Amino acid sequence: MTILSVRNLKTYFKTFEGVVKAVDGISFDLKESEILALVGESGCGKSITALTIMGLVKNAIFEGSIKYKDMELTKLSNEEYRKIRGKKISMIFQEPMASFDPLYTVGQQMVEATLTHLEVNEKEARKICINMLKKVHIPLAEKRFDEYPHQMSGGMLQRIMIAMALLTNPDIIIADEPTTALDVTIQAQVLKLFKELQETFKTSVIFITHDLGVVAELADKVHVMYAGKIVEKARVFDLFRNPLHPYTEALLQSRVKKEYKGRPLPYIPGTVPAATKFPTGCRFHPRCSKVMPICSEKEPPEILIDNSSVSCWLYFRSDEK
Ligand SMILES: Nc1ncnc2c1ncn2[C@@H]1O[C@H](COP(=O)(O)OP(=O)(O)O)[C@@H](O)[C@H]1O
Ligand code: SF4
Ligand SMILES: [Mg+2]
Repeated sequence: MTILSVRNLKTYFKTFEGVVKAVDGISFDLKESEILALVGESGCGKSITALTIMGLVKNAIFEGSIKYKDMELTKLSNEEYRKIRGKKISMIFQEPMASFDPLYTVGQQMVEATLTHLEVNEKEARKICINMLKKVHIPLAEKRFDEYPHQMSGGMLQRIMIAMALLTNPDIIIADEPTTALDVTIQAQVLKLFKELQETFKTSVIFITHDLGVVAELADKVHVMYAGKIVEKARVFDLFRNPLHPYTEALLQSRVKKEYKGRPLPYIPGTVPAATKFPTGCRFHPRCSKVMPICSEKEPPEILIDNSSVSCWLYFRSDEK
């Protein structure tokens, strides 16, 4: 069953340099207990997509629809959104340190979140929180509960963030690069834990990352974002075996290269264009190794191929018109 349905979502910011089209008409569905990875280079609109779904973007121009079950989120008042956010849809941010208030103990912050969303008293809330700390393998959970964020390591704090996100047993967790700030070994541990808990709680997840390695370990399906749009949608297995979009291919190649030590850093030539002035036609055309004349003239349509979809002229057949 589909739990979240996003249609033609746009988030624009008016700035002195012009209109920033951070998210520019994306559509996707998230199913029950599914992990959807949203992948792309920095600046392509992943975080703004997440924050828009959470109702946390202010002073922007919005268009399109975000449906959670039968509820149209774009029509909710701030008050109504607050009831959903943190209870039904939770978010885990990249910087664990920035997600906690340094002036309160971890326990105080967890209890407050619990009391806001669940009908329990303080003693019960404390018990729920300590139990959850145990679930994310925090050693000496009772003692750690009364400590301050600065007394914890980054990896431990990120596990506590996961615990916080799960406190209310939400239907959806949106995790925005949750392991990017951690070192590689800790990153692997946190990912493993995340996957375990997702399987236990059957939570649906939107997992945002620029790292395709993480995707392979974790996700069921992948959506690749470029310059405010989704350019390819595929199941993880298909994406790795047979990437369709030249951008996806380039992302995969730059990942393989990373494993060759001593070589220059992997990169895709060029940079993500500024969101105020996207190239005409296909936004990837100035960087694409397979560019054709039509690519700079007309935006490619979304083309369905087996279980995938791709927005690229390479796959267009005129008899399909
Ligand atoms: N408040 C804002 N005002 C103007 N532009 C913004 C704002 N927030 C983000 N952007 C721009 O929107 C684009 C997408 O940003 P973001 O979603 O953070 O990218 P990603 O998470 O994929 O790295 C970027 O070009 C960024 O500079
Ligand atoms: S539409 Fe053209 S420029 Fe864009 S990805 Fe496909 S081949 Fe490359
Ligand atoms: Mg981001």
